[in-house]
Amino acid sequence: MTLRTSLVAALTALTPLMATTASAASLTVGFSQIGSESGWRAAETSVSKSEAQKRNITLKIADAQQKQENQIKAIRSFVAQGVDAIFLAPVVATGWDAVLNEAKDARIPVILLDRDIETANKSLYLTAVTSDSVHEGVVAGEWLAKNVGTKPCNVVELQGTVGASVATNRKKGFDEAIAKHSNIKMIRSQTGDFTRAKGKEVTESFLKAENGGKNICALYAHNDDMAVGAIQAIKEAGLKPGKDVLIVSIDAVPDIFKAFIASEANATVELTPNMAGPAFDALIAFKEKGTAPPKWIQTESKLYTPTDDPQKIYDSKKGLGY
Ligand code: AHR
Repeated sequence: MTLRTSLVAALTALTPLMATTASAASLTVGFSQIGSESGWRAAETSVSKSEAQKRNITLKIADAQQKQENQIKAIRSFVAQGVDAIFLAPVVATGWDAVLNEAKDARIPVILLDRDIETANKSLYLTAVTSDSVHEGVVAGEWLAKNVGTKPCNVVELQGTVGASVATNRKKGFDEAIAKHSNIKMIRSQTGDFTRAKGKEVTESFLKAENGGKNICALYAHNDDMAVGAIQAIKEAGLKPGKDVLIVSIDAVPDIFKAFIASEANATVELTPNMAGPAFDALIAFKEKGTAPPKWIQTESKLYTPTDDPQKIYDSKKGLGY
């Protein structure tokens, strides 16, 4: 074999691998992100960037600042740029059909991240990478029921963004779980928009309306950030969060583990910030081999309480961009 033929043979052997790498590397994905309302959202953005980098994918992120109209504009702009795929974290569940039809006409696959949409036409998106958010509410409600036993318990609720699938579902799941226990009553429920500041403000109004908080046995927040705001409000009202008012929430952000360590919160249901990793893998398989992913790629929902070594979990999470 001459030097030239052995070089050709070596290059031929490498071709399939290079084709794989080259096509993943040449992908450009547009991500319409909701904003930065919570620590979880910040981590999702940061993890999405690192997951893209790992796969040599170019990720273009558009921050919608909580507005659906900005997300629609971003999707149109991604379509005009001819990206290879669009990731969408939909701020609300309804009103997507028209713009997703435009992406479909342009043959650009759309993948939903962390929230669902309501549509009769499931072919408008390739797959959705989300948790089972009804189940998250059930897990939170069952934790509470188990921990109050037969004692009467008045609950106040901080809901997420109105119209967001996760807010609707987390409420539904929790309501279903506590409906089985006549001693547990939901006495107030209002949106805190998934933010710390609003969680604090709404909790202050709950406390005022409920005898300085003395009528409240537990607070359920649709995310940890609102729970952290609520903890502050409860402390300022002279009560002990975690004891006088039980705190159960969702996300498992590092700050809730700090609250566990301070005995100021009682339970959280984890939502992984890594929605993009499974989405990129599904997209690559679809682009390279034509493999259609399942319509729903479900992420895990794990319950954490202060017995789960909160310091260790805090340390493992704190570098993730929360
Ligand atoms: O859609 C996921 C939710 O959005 C997270 O639980 C919340 O923190 C975020 O704002």
